[in-house]
Amino acid sequence: MCLTAYSTPIAKLVDKHCDLVLVGDSVGMVVHGLPSTVGVTMDMMVMHGQAVRRGVKNALLLVDLPFGSYEESPEQAFRNAARLMAETGASAVKLEGGVHMADTIAYLTARSIPVVGHIGLTPQAVNSFGGYKVQGRGAHGEKVLADAKAVADAGAFAVVLEKVPEVLAKRITMAIDIPTIGIGASSSCDGQILVIDDMLGMFTDFAPKFAKRYAELAHEADSAIEGYAKDVRARTFPGPEHVYSDAPKPAPTGTE
Ligand code: KIV
Ligand code: NA
Repeated sequence: MCLTAYSTPIAKLVDKHCDLVLVGDSVGMVVHGLPSTVGVTMDMMVMHGQAVRRGVKNALLLVDLPFGSYEESPEQAFRNAARLMAETGASAVKLEGGVHMADTIAYLTARSIPVVGHIGLTPQAVNSFGGYKVQGRGAHGEKVLADAKAVADAGAFAVVLEKVPEVLAKRITMAIDIPTIGIGASSSCDGQILVIDDMLGMFTDFAPKFAKRYAELAHEADSAIEGYAKDVRARTFPGPEHVYSDAPKPAPTGTE
């Protein structure tokens, strides 16, 4: 049972129900308005990781390594993963890529950094994929299966499977010993994750088919802001109950 979080108040809410809370690099798109996750920086991940840490008491805290922070070499990956863990208090890091990242995953896990893999649709590679397309259909499934095996053999303790056909998700989940965490990968995965802003209906610029909306918070917020604007312009807010009198302060109630 996994969700993303980027702030302390949302972290407190999701921590009540989640086994794992991910500070995803999706923060770049849903909080910072970036066009993809490619522009997300280490500093952004550290700052949001620290905010989420303050709200998480029970769940495992996982932080994404952003694009450009780990691909160059296992040493670069270690340096940045260690920084994320030291500065945010996260217990593990996630990175994108299968076969080609296996050496790096092995390097990190051998040096006490627990790693979650991320294969199938890897959003940091959007410029190579040419869009957010379903991965591993038909014969292409063999490549994703090889990625899953490589990530598991390299020592990752779980793997995110994003936007792959159900049959492939099932095959991979049965083929490897570590838990698969699906997003757009069917109920055949061991676990599930969604981007919190997607499932709350807070991020509505576009919505993949797999992002079930459990609330319509953007709609709620719009109504609230509209109501406030109307009241202010009509001078019906602030009302008498929101105003301070000039009389001496009564005995403390703690509510003023
Ligand atoms: O960045 C993110 O939110 C993610 C999840 C969707 C798995 O990587
Ligand atoms: Na991510």
